[in-house]
Amino acid sequence: MRRLSIGFVSALTCFLAACSTPTALSSDVTVMRLPHNMNESHPIHQSLVHFAELAEEKSNGTLRFDIFPNGQLGSEREAIELTQTGAVDATKVSATALESFSPFYALFSIPYLFVDQDHYYEVMESSIATDIYDSTSDSGFFGLTYYDAGTRNMYTINQPVREPEDLAGLKIRVQPSETAIQMTRLMGGAPTPMAFGEVYTALQQGVIDGTENNETALISNNHGEVAKDYSYTEHAIVPDLLIFSKLRWDSFSEEERAIIKEAADESSQFHKELWAEEIERSVEAAKELGVTFHEDVNKEAFRDLVEPMHEAVRSNEEMAEYYERIRAMERGE
Ligand code: GCU
Repeated sequence: MRRLSIGFVSALTCFLAACSTPTALSSDVTVMRLPHNMNESHPIHQSLVHFAELAEEKSNGTLRFDIFPNGQLGSEREAIELTQTGAVDATKVSATALESFSPFYALFSIPYLFVDQDHYYEVMESSIATDIYDSTSDSGFFGLTYYDAGTRNMYTINQPVREPEDLAGLKIRVQPSETAIQMTRLMGGAPTPMAFGEVYTALQQGVIDGTENNETALISNNHGEVAKDYSYTEHAIVPDLLIFSKLRWDSFSEEERAIIKEAADESSQFHKELWAEEIERSVEAAKELGVTFHEDVNKEAFRDLVEPMHEAVRSNEEMAEYYERIRAMERGE
């Protein structure tokens, strides 16, 4: 699988280089590529379009981003590798997809790490996040900003998940990441890692019994057509991250960097509001499709089962430092 992925990325890199090198239209217009895996109706697409508009406006038209939705340039992993080599300039991926590039990103996927939305926003807008973003600077990319991707919950084809026993024997699609695999196993299910773009078909064909994600996937990706029970396990709040190619960044002037950073941060705030509206809209639309939302979930039981993951982070010296900073923020220190 790994070899296939490298093959795909190098073929695509050659294709992108041969067909249209990201270049200047005239000597002072730089056109950049930004692929992502969601469709045009998803709020993240709208926020990335907003980012591109802000960058163009603030630079008087000299910095342009072309956005490629729908995973047309590959899965999240492939988009990260393309960003790393500079074949594309930036991409939006789930923080979970980044953990094999630097272990620190795995922190964001630790189940029940954030106590609530305020704690999550505070950490994501602090130096804890930017220190983690910088951990991949030497490997070709870094994080520029985050976009709210809601709370992840379990949803299944035809049975609610209220207790860990309810997950027993269920094949649950997870993001291709060690943290997600371990989490699902500890919570009681049988993890089946696969790229997001394959989930709808896997649900439809019964290859999996369920998956876990925020509510937008029910509508934007049609999962609610097949999965009828959405259970609020609220097991993780994992941000989406906008990552940027170091190669491209190093070619910018200080002023250009400031413009892009500002556009990114403004689009992140813009996204927060859009996100809240979209969650409400998705829940209403999913109910119309016959999806039942279950609030009566024994979250305590799930939280206890994943405690070994917190323990593992605390006993790793480098990870523990970040973990403690996140806990201190929760205590308001
Ligand atoms: C979320 C996230 C995506 C990710 C997806 C997944 O929807 O926003 O970036 O691809 O989860 O489960 O893979």
